[in-house]
Amino acid sequence: MTRPLPCLLLLALLGIVAALAAPKSGLKDDASCKQGYNCKLPECLCPSLEAPGNFGSLDDVPQFVVLSYDDAVTVSNKDFYLGFQNLLNPNHCRISMTFFLSHQYTDYTIVNELHRLGHEIALHSVTHKSDSVGYWRPANESLWMQEMDDLRKMIVKFANIPEKDLKGWRAPFLELGGDEMFSALQQLGLKYDCSWTTIKYTNWFEKPNQGLWPYTLDYGSPQDCPMGRCPTDKYPGLWVMPMLDLNDNKNLPCAMLDTCQSEEDELLGNKDAVEAFLKRNFLINYYTNKAPFGLYTHHSWFYEGTLNKTEARREGYTNFLLWLSTLEDVYVVSLDRLLAWMKDPKPVDQIDNIPEITCPPLDPETTCPSHNTYYFGPENNIPPQMSSMYMTTCTKPKPPYYPWLYNPYGLEDIPIQE
Ligand SMILES: *[C@@H]1O[C@H](CO)[C@@H](O)[C@H](O)[C@H]1NC(C)=O
Ligand SMILES: *[C@@H]1O[C@H](CO)[C@@H](O)[C@H](O)[C@H]1NC(C)=O
Repeated sequence: MTRPLPCLLLLALLGIVAALAAPKSGLKDDASCKQGYNCKLPECLCPSLEAPGNFGSLDDVPQFVVLSYDDAVTVSNKDFYLGFQNLLNPNHCRISMTFFLSHQYTDYTIVNELHRLGHEIALHSVTHKSDSVGYWRPANESLWMQEMDDLRKMIVKFANIPEKDLKGWRAPFLELGGDEMFSALQQLGLKYDCSWTTIKYTNWFEKPNQGLWPYTLDYGSPQDCPMGRCPTDKYPGLWVMPMLDLNDNKNLPCAMLDTCQSEEDELLGNKDAVEAFLKRNFLINYYTNKAPFGLYTHHSWFYEGTLNKTEARREGYTNFLLWLSTLEDVYVVSLDRLLAWMKDPKPVDQIDNIPEITCPPLDPETTCPSHNTYYFGPENNIPPQMSSMYMTTCTKPKPPYYPWLYNPYGLEDIPIQE
């Protein structure tokens, strides 16, 4: 019984050698994707726990922070969003954020203004129907395409934004729509999805995994599938911006701030607790592999506080962003700008070589000089549960019918189904 031991030792040693020789991705289950061989930037990036670019030192890797807000942009949340105007990245360019837009209640003139100031406008469906199980889960490819493309048409027309600037998508309720949804993204020429949550690939959940970096679907995905249906086909050049779960104050995962729980409502009423919670989660990424750190939410998360007569969420969040702006290697950028860096990674001291991370000396002039607010009544085919709808746009004249799915310009007489 003495023989097996040396054998095991030898096997173990061979294992170590094999591990050292293995590609650097650190992912065991993505054997088919070999960066630099069958997958090359800028169009292809294998799933990885390490930053692209092979910089050698983590100090050279910028820490990206992504702030996104879902649903309608309106006069009641406009000032909140514009309130972050003066926050700058280390290269003195304004921070940028991503807005996943849905149609109803959206004021397209504000969408135009956010875009003018350097923020990203992305897609989050026309209808945002609340029946997740009955509507989104069984959705086929043509319904996904309709929800994406009709919204894209509306934004291009009513907010006067170039179609090429609309690159990203988030599924309502993060109800991932499997191959039907990813195939719709691919066919419409959209560049990325940001709806796919992961708990397995975070920097806090289970060793030995770490936070997953954005990657393309050329060879499929190693990601766990906590919500909805995950795709199984391959989508060359289509990016996944994985949503790494945060670790909330009850030690539970949350993909969006809205579902993060606190022990005693401290994440509702205590600004210092909010700031500490955000810092704690940020530092987990910052000290581990610098995977992009996402804070994804709705304006209602802040509004919930004001109902309770507290601004703690806004204050804690703002203080967190102010603290971030003291760190020389931290860049708060929209997902499309992060994507530009992913395709052409540069160390932090050369980051200004990426045009999308730098800024023009002056903001461009508005492309929405006239703001027009239109009233729609039941005779204009508004959604059945409504008695009236208003829509503010950069365009004239008023569309004859309320714009909606299958009728993005409101030109046709198509009653809206419940
Ligand atoms: C896709 O779903 C829509 C809405 O449920 C339906 O009207 C359409 O016929 C379906 N298309 C196909 C090709 O199955
Ligand atoms: C916050 O406000 C809601 C609705 O007004 C109320 O139900 C809840 O108890 C309040 N929470 C706290 C911590 O005050």
